[in-house]
Amino acid sequence: MKTINWGILGAARVNQRLLPAIENNHNSRILMLASRRNGAAEECVQQYAKNPEGIKTTTNFDEVINHPDINAIYIPLANEEHTEVALKSIAQKKHVLIEKPMALTKQEVKSITQAAKENNVIVMEGFMYVFHPQFDFVLDFINSGKLGKIQYAHSMFSFPIQPARYYRINRSIQDGGGALWDIGPYAIHTLRQVIRGHIKQVNATAKMNSHQADMSASGILEFTDKRRATFDVSFECTRRSEFEIFGEKGRLKCHTVWQHEDDEAIISYELDESAPVVEKIQKGNHFELEINHFVECIFNNKESNKLSMNDAIQQAALMEATYKSIQSNQWVSV
Ligand SMILES: NC(=O)c1ccc[n+]([C@@H]2O[C@H](COP(=O)([O-])OP(=O)(O)OC[C@H]3O[C@@H](n4cnc5c(N)ncnc54)[C@H](OP(=O)(O)O)[C@@H]3O)[C@@H](O)[C@H]2O)c1
Repeated sequence: MKTINWGILGAARVNQRLLPAIENNHNSRILMLASRRNGAAEECVQQYAKNPEGIKTTTNFDEVINHPDINAIYIPLANEEHTEVALKSIAQKKHVLIEKPMALTKQEVKSITQAAKENNVIVMEGFMYVFHPQFDFVLDFINSGKLGKIQYAHSMFSFPIQPARYYRINRSIQDGGGALWDIGPYAIHTLRQVIRGHIKQVNATAKMNSHQADMSASGILEFTDKRRATFDVSFECTRRSEFEIFGEKGRLKCHTVWQHEDDEAIISYELDESAPVVEKIQKGNHFELEINHFVECIFNNKESNKLSMNDAIQQAALMEATYKSIQSNQWVSV
C-alpha cells in the first residue's frame, strides 16, 4: 500500500486542523468527507482543505465506510457517536483514527479493540498532544530523574464556550455532553502520562447547567501508592491549557499543552536550590505529527507505541469512573 486514501465522517470544527495535516502527509490523500447536514461537508472542505477539488462530499456515512478505495477513516464526531461508526468502519477493514474520547465506556473501547484485532486494522485515539516536541521534552526531563520521584501533578484546561458551540452543552453528561467528555480526556490523559502508576480511585465533582451538562468539572485521582493528581476543566473560565508536575526535588510546568500549531511551546522548571529556568521549545504541529505516526503504524501493521489500545482501555476506565463519581458524589474505584 503506497497511498492511504482517507474518508472523514463528520463536518467537525477540528477538521480545520486535521484536513491540512492529512493533506500534508506525503502518503495520504483525502477521498471523501461526509456530513449528515446538507451542505455542511462542502462548506467544511471549502473552508479547511488546502486542495478541496479532489475531495468528494456526501450526506451518507455508509458511502464512505463502504468505499472500496478508502483504507483509513478519521472520526471527529460527537463523543457519544464514535463507537457505532468505528465498529462499522472496522468491519469494512478500515484503519480508524478516533478523536478523543474514543468512547464513553471501557466496554465500548474493549469491543473496538477486539474488532480491530479480528479485522487486522490499526485503531488509535486522537491525543495529538503526545506528539508535540514539548511533550518529549517533559518525558525526557522526568526520565532524567532531575525532579526525583513525581509525587503530584495538576492539569487545567478551560475556555469560555462560544454560542456557536452550545450544541455541545445542550445535552446531558449522561449523553456525552459537557466539559468532562470534551476537554476532560486531555487533562486526565496527561496526568496518567506524567505520573504513571496504577490509579486506584477517583473523586470528582461538577457544576451542571440546565441540560445537566457539566460546565466545569474537577477531580482527584488517587494512585495505589497514595500519590495524587488533580484536574480542573471548564467551559466558563478564562483560557488555561497547562499542567504542572511536582517531584521530590523540583517542579516543572508546561504552559500551553493542547494548543494550536502556531502557539509558543514554553516549559518552566525549578529544581531545589537552583534558579527558575524558562525553556522555549521548538514549535510543533502535533496534528501533522499525529497523522505521520498513524500512517507509519498502518505501513508497519503495528499499533501505536504511544497510544496503544491498552492505553485507550485504561483511559476509558478512568473517564467512566470519573463520570460515575460526579453522578454519585463518591469515590469510585477504577
Ligand atoms: N484533537 C483536538 O484538538 C480536538 C479538538 C476539538 C475536538 N476534538 C474532538 O473531536 C471530536 C469533534 O469535536 P469538534 O469540536 O471538532 O466537533 P463539532 O464541531 O462539535 O462537531 C462534531 C459533530 O457534530 C456535528 N455538528 C457540527 N456542527 C454542528 C452544528 N452546528 N449543529 C449540529 N451538529 C453539528 C458534525 O456531524 P455532522 O457533520 O454529521 O452533522 C460533527 O462531526 C470530538 O470527539 C472532540 O472531543 C478534538
